[in-house]
Amino acid sequence: MSKPVSNASSTAKPAPDSGPLTVALVDASATERLAAQVAGELGPGFVLFLSGDLGAGKTTFTRGLLRALGYPGRVKSPTFTLVESYDLSKFQLYHFDFYRLSSDRDWLDAGFDDLVGGSGVAVIEWPERAAASLPPPDLRLRLEFDTAGGEQARVARLEAGSPRGLECLRRLRAASAAC
Ligand SMILES: Nc1ncnc2c1ncn2[C@@H]1O[C@H](COP(=O)(O)OP(=O)(O)OP(=O)(O)O)[C@@H](O)[C@H]1O
Ligand SMILES: [Mg+2]
Repeated sequence: MSKPVSNASSTAKPAPDSGPLTVALVDASATERLAAQVAGELGPGFVLFLSGDLGAGKTTFTRGLLRALGYPGRVKSPTFTLVESYDLSKFQLYHFDFYRLSSDRDWLDAGFDDLVGGSGVAVIEWPERAAASLPPPDLRLRLEFDTAGGEQARVARLEAGSPRGLECLRRLRAASAAC
């Protein structure tokens, strides 16, 4: 069972049910705890966009997802390979990083489009670099540095892009309200 959102951080600000959810993350462990909650909402075909500046914590978040899904091994950043694939018990998880993509064409030519929205889960860092050819995500998560909170503080902003994403946010809010 996943932990309440507010345990992942100090605060989950109230927002309208269909609006974005904002979560304060005091350090990398808090980011991984939020990821563990989101992991419980993933299923085949789920598409998750991870945005944020260099070093904001997108790969750290993905590591948290994978740990929560039972993957014990090393989680490498796919900065150079563009994609790392994980064979999990529930589904295949594809972790993309499009930072080094020079054009939308590159990822279509590589056949990556077949991996997004199929039977696996797609977690995509720097989706902006392939924006024109990506399907709309179920969930968008943006990580921002929270300079007022110190070097390790981040703010996560989650927005739904589909009914499945809305349901995911609803459950995250419900878990947060329960604590
Ligand atoms: N609250 C936090 N959340 C996530 N990472 C944090 C946090 N505080 C400190 N860190 C550290 O910041 C670094 C984040 O690196 P990470 O590779 O996850 O970033 P990224 O967003 O994937 O960067 P890139 O765009 O280069 O792929 C890690 O060293 C991590 O330990
Ligand atoms: Mg990264």
